[in-house]
Amino acid sequence: MPEREFVSVNEVGLRDGLQNQSVQVPTDGKLRLAGALADAGIRSMEATSFVSPRAVPQMADAAELYPALPRPDEIEYSALIPNMKGYERAREVGVRSVAVVLSATDTMNRKNINMSLEQTRRVCAEVVGRARGDGIYSRAYVAVAFECPFEGTVSGDRIGALTEEMFAAGADEVIVADTIGAANPSDVFQRFSDLARRFGPSRLAAHFHDTRALALANAWAALHGGVRRFDSSIGGLGGCPFAPGAAGNVATEDLVLMLEMCGFRTGIDIAGLRQAVEIASELVGYQLGGRISPWLQSEDRRRSGRDGRG
Ligand code: COA
Ligand code: ZN
Repeated sequence: MPEREFVSVNEVGLRDGLQNQSVQVPTDGKLRLAGALADAGIRSMEATSFVSPRAVPQMADAAELYPALPRPDEIEYSALIPNMKGYERAREVGVRSVAVVLSATDTMNRKNINMSLEQTRRVCAEVVGRARGDGIYSRAYVAVAFECPFEGTVSGDRIGALTEEMFAAGADEVIVADTIGAANPSDVFQRFSDLARRFGPSRLAAHFHDTRALALANAWAALHGGVRRFDSSIGGLGGCPFAPGAAGNVATEDLVLMLEMCGFRTGIDIAGLRQAVEIASELVGYQLGGRISPWLQSEDRRRSGRDGRG
């Protein structure tokens, strides 16, 4: 039998997920969740962000959290960085992979990081350039890549230009992000096919939110466009405090199930993810879970019924 093709699933719940919660999850709780995700087979995680603690109090423990993350030799942990100060803070504690955020519109950059689009382009280019020199892996988010909550539709030409700029500045990977969950599968397929033809699919990643119930369909469309790297968050945790109306990311368990059912290999185990969902739910104080939750529960009932009958 031919080897199944690998698709990389980057768990972003600890950053994109928790940054939006009203509760302050303690560092040891985050570490427990990272441990459960690692046990489930996750090998890539965006663990935190080195941002202003005033802007995002949930990430104030980044410098304590990062060095304590479990199994650092097996897992690629990255951290989101908004500016050079964030980069310096991350480097000090030994971060090996950073992610910068370049929103595609002027207003979104101002709302998110208090910089114009021009300033953000310059700062992101500086940070990824520095990272390249320091031997640190860098990823650049091109955010609100389909629609901006303030400026509306974002063109494919603009995304192509910003992607090119980030690669030219030294980024190892560009993550095209539908930050508010406004993309549709048809545009996603077109846009990723174009980007993959232009830059090669291996350096591209896709990041979808499920605001309009299309995250999984969009992931499928991006997969057909050539993408083999996806962000997702455990139990669908997430949203963005600076982008009104954004729901959580595509749930990791939904994405993994789809990929595995379609013959791709993720190395991730659904039973392990379910344990991580329970831990994440306990940490945020409400029940999380992807769209497959009711099905998983009915499978449990069916199995226990069958076991009961002997
Ligand atoms: N980490 C920690 N503190 C930081 C920082 C960083 N990366 N960058 C700046 N600061 C501090 C400054 O030292 C300064 O502190 P002080 O008031 O005690 O002197 C304060 O924040 C303000 O600095 P300034 O450069 O004027 O920043 P700002 O107020 O314009 O805010 C950001 C800019 C980028 C720091 C802030 O908007 C931010 O952290 N945004 C993150 C948003 C986010 O995480 N969005 C979700 C992910 S996409
Ligand atoms: Zn996001």
